[in-house]
Amino acid sequence: MEFEIKYLIYTSHPIGFDEKNINNILEISKINNKKHNLTGCLVYRQDLYLQYLEGPDENLEITYKRILNDKRHSKIFKLSENFTTRRLFTNWAMRGNPLMTSMWTNSDVKKGIIQEMSSDDAYKLFEKFSREIDQFN
Ligand SMILES: Cc1cc2nc3c(=O)[nH]c(=O)nc-3n(C[C@H](O)[C@H](O)[C@H](O)COP(=O)(O)O)c2cc1C
Repeated sequence: MEFEIKYLIYTSHPIGFDEKNINNILEISKINNKKHNLTGCLVYRQDLYLQYLEGPDENLEITYKRILNDKRHSKIFKLSENFTTRRLFTNWAMRGNPLMTSMWTNSDVKKGIIQEMSSDDAYKLFEKFSREIDQFN
C-alpha cells in the first residue's frame, strides 16, 4: 500500500497583485514547500488565485494555516480536500501557472464561477494542468 498524502484546493482574491508580489510568493513557497515535502500548483492572475497543494497531512495543514493568514489575498474559499496516493505535481515545490487566464472571463470570476466549481471538477482541472505540464517540460 502506498503512503497516503493529502491534497487541498482553494481559491482566493489577490490583494496588491503585481509581478513582484507573485514572484515573492512563488519564491518563498518553493523554499518552504521543499522543506515540508509539499508540492503543488498556483494558478494566478489579477483577479484570481487558485492553488493546489499536496503532501503529508500535518505539513499541509500547517502551511494552509499560514496561507489563510496572509494579507496578500482575501475571500479564501476551500474547494476540495481529500486523501490520495498519487501526487499530481511531483517535481514542483510550487509551480506557477499564469497560462490559463483565458479559461474564464473577468466577469465570470467576479460572479463567482470558481467558487461554484464542484470538488471533483476542481481536482480534474489540476489533473489536466499536471498532464499539460508533464508534456512540455
Ligand atoms: C496565494 C498564496 C499562495 C501561497 N502559497 C504558499 C505555499 O504553497 N507555501 C508556503 O509556504 N507559503 C505560501 N504562501 C505564503 C504564506 O502565506 C506565507 O507568507 C509564507 O509561508 C511565509 O510565512 P511566514 O512569514 O509565517 O514564515 C502563499 C501565499 C499566497 C498569498
